[in-house]
Amino acid sequence: MKWKLVTGPLEGLKSEGLAVGVFEDLDFSRLGDGDSIAASAKRVRFKGKPGESYYAFELFGKPKKHLLVVGLGKKDECKPATFRDAAALASRKFRERTLKSAAIAFPLDGKGQAAGPSLQALVEGVHFGNGRFDKYLTDREAKFEGLGRVLIVVPRKGRALEECAQLGALTASAVLYARGLVTEPSNVLTPSRMAEEAKRVAKEAGLAIKVLGPSECEAMGMGAYLAVAKGSKNEPRFIHVSYRPKGARFHLGFVGKGLTFDSGGLSLKPNEGMAAMKSDMSGAAAVLAAMKAIGELRPKVAVDAVMAMAENMPGGGAYKPGDILTSMSGKTIEILNADAEGRLTLADALTYVQKQKVDAVVDLATLTGACIVALGPDIAGAMTNDQGFLDELLAAAREAGEELWQLPMPAAYNKFIQSPVADMANSARIRWGGAITAGLFLKNFVENGTPWVHLDIAGPAYRDEDGAEAFRAEGSGVGVRTLVRLVLNKEK
Ligand code: BES
Ligand code: ZN
Ligand code: ZN
Repeated sequence: MKWKLVTGPLEGLKSEGLAVGVFEDLDFSRLGDGDSIAASAKRVRFKGKPGESYYAFELFGKPKKHLLVVGLGKKDECKPATFRDAAALASRKFRERTLKSAAIAFPLDGKGQAAGPSLQALVEGVHFGNGRFDKYLTDREAKFEGLGRVLIVVPRKGRALEECAQLGALTASAVLYARGLVTEPSNVLTPSRMAEEAKRVAKEAGLAIKVLGPSECEAMGMGAYLAVAKGSKNEPRFIHVSYRPKGARFHLGFVGKGLTFDSGGLSLKPNEGMAAMKSDMSGAAAVLAAMKAIGELRPKVAVDAVMAMAENMPGGGAYKPGDILTSMSGKTIEILNADAEGRLTLADALTYVQKQKVDAVVDLATLTGACIVALGPDIAGAMTNDQGFLDELLAAAREAGEELWQLPMPAAYNKFIQSPVADMANSARIRWGGAITAGLFLKNFVENGTPWVHLDIAGPAYRDEDGAEAFRAEGSGVGVRTLVRLVLNKEK
C-alpha cells in the first residue's frame, strides 16, 4: 500500500473513498459540507461511538466520494489506540467495497493528545484493516488486493510527523509479516521453512543469522529442546538472528516459542481447538518480525533473537511421560505431560541466548491455556525476576498499544513442579495457577543477575472475528509492537 501525508481542504483530494473521524460531540465543522453531514448523522442516529460507522452517500466532494463517517468516542478519552482501531475499521470497510484509493481525515490536532503517536497508530491501523490472508483462495473475486493508495490528512506537514508515519508503516509491515507466519498452516511452515524465512529476512534487513540442525543442537547439549522434536518427521531448526551495531547502548536477548504445530505429542490434545495449534509459533513469529523492523530501523541497541523451532507430534520416536531429560543448562527435567513442551524448548533457548552476553532477556510464548483462563483472550500475561525491567517493558507495551498484565511468581509455588527423580517436573501437580507454574519452570533457566521477562501470549496471539478491530486476522502479530518500542526506548 502506498500512502502519503497531505494537508488542506478535503474537497479536492483525489480518492474514491474518504473516511472522516468524529468524536461524540458530532462536530463536523472541519468539513466544508459539515452541516449536511451533521444532519445525515442525526438521521441514521449515529452517535460517534468507537466501532460505529456509516456511509453518508452523495454528500461530499466533487466527484462524490464514498464518505465513511467513523466514530472516535469521547474526545477526552481519545488515545492513539482509538485512531488505530478507527483507521483499521475504515480500511476494512473500504476493502469490502473494493475501493482502490481512500483518504483518511481524523482529528490529529486535538488537544491533549500528541499528534505523532496518534498518527503512527493511524498508519498502523490503515495497514492492519487492509491486510488479509487470502493466498490460498483460488477465486479471483475473493482475492481483491485492497487499498492501493491512501492519503492521510494531517494538520501540518513536517519531518516529525513524516517520521512517525514512517515508523507506523514499518511497524505495521512487521506485524502483518508476523500475522502471515502465524496464519500459515503447519504443513507449509515447518521448522526448516521457518529457518529459510529467517534467512531471507536476515539478508534483506542486514542481520547476521545462524541456523543449527539437530546434530549441532545435540553437540550443544540441548536435550530438552531436542526431545520435543523427536516425535515428528519434520526436523527441528534452531534459529539465531543477531543485530550487533557499533556503539550499542544495551544488549537485548529475545526468545520466541516456535512450535510450528503442537498436537500435544503423546499427551494428545482433543481435536477441538487443535487446528489453532498451528499458531504455537507466534512467539517466534513476533521475534522474527521484530528483528525485521529492527534491522530496518538500525537503532544503537544490540539484539540477539533465538527461536527453537520444532513440531510436537506423537510419532514413534516421541518423548514420553516419565522420561527424564538433561537440558543444556545441565538441569534435569522429568516429563509428566508431553503437551507441556513449550517450556522445554524455551529452557534450552534461554540458556543459549544468555551465552550471547545479553543484558536482559524477553521471551514470548503461547505457553499455557491457563493464562487465557486468567486474563481472557485480549491480554498477555507478564512475569519477571526484575521489576525494573518489567516496568520498562510495560511502559513500552502501553505506548505501543498492547495489553499486558503482570502475574506474580511466588516461590512457594515451586513445590508444585518438584519431581522426586529429577531437578523439576515439566508439568505441575495441580491445575490451578498454570501460567505461573510455567513461568516458575522457566525461571530455573534464567541465570542469576539476568533481568528477564516472560510474556505468555497464548490469549492474544491467535484471534478470530470477535477480536478488536486492529486485531482482526487469525494470527494477531502480538508482541511485535512492544518489542520494537522497547528497543527504541532503550536507545534513548
Ligand atoms: N501451546 C499450548 C498452550 C496453548 C493453549 C496456547 C491454548 C494457546 C491456546 C501449550 O503447549 C500447552 O499445551 N500447555 C498446556 C500445559 C499443561 C499440559 C501443563 C496447557 O495449557 O494445557
Ligand atoms: Zn502443548
Ligand atoms: Zn504448545
